[in-house]
Amino acid sequence: MRLFLDTANIDQIREVAKMGIISGVTTNPTLMAKEEGVTYRDRVVEICDVVDGPVSAECTARDLDGLLTEAREIAAWHDNVVVKIPVDETGLEATAVLSKEGIKINMTLVFSANQALLAATAGATLVSIFVGRLDDAGQEGMEVVRESVEIFDQYHLPAQILAASLRHPRHVIEAAQLGAQIATIPYGLLKAMVKHPLTDVGIEKFLADSKAYEKESAKTPS
Ligand code: E4P
Repeated sequence: MRLFLDTANIDQIREVAKMGIISGVTTNPTLMAKEEGVTYRDRVVEICDVVDGPVSAECTARDLDGLLTEAREIAAWHDNVVVKIPVDETGLEATAVLSKEGIKINMTLVFSANQALLAATAGATLVSIFVGRLDDAGQEGMEVVRESVEIFDQYHLPAQILAASLRHPRHVIEAAQLGAQIATIPYGLLKAMVKHPLTDVGIEKFLADSKAYEKESAKTPS
């Protein structure tokens, strides 16, 4: 499974990239709105310089012509850019056209296995299922991942399932168990995945115990 970072914050991306665990980044207009003094284009190019993998940037146009123009512009920012398009009728139509031009599409705001199937059939490369927002609405978000994985496997659809809107470490484990090819992870969640209190306790204990034999070694002449 590949792990992406779900942020437009370059400091977070630089920090996590050093750990060798992320192979892509997802952004959206909400994440970008938190960043000051930088254009969306410049930030995406900056991210592409740090992470050598797919970096998703989202279209906001709502009509077909606008969407096609915006998607082509975004795709030209960098070779690694994947264009995010929301799944609706216009989005599917745009995806059908753009995917034939070789532009990679991340079909976003997917909330059902039907939408996932349509996105994959229209030619999306990535299909982003928003697990946490479904959970927030009282539905079982992971069920949509399960159904979509089953359908994509059954028909050998080349699109990859990207588990998005992940809120806690169990979400990542469940998405991995179900066979989602990618999980995109917010910075805070990534930090929570790294941590375990028993690791901290264990490090403290090993450190304290190492002092004992270091003292002994200092007493014994070599
Ligand atoms: C992923 O591509 C989305 O931008 C993101 O995961 C949305 O998450 P949210 O529901 O926490 O905003």
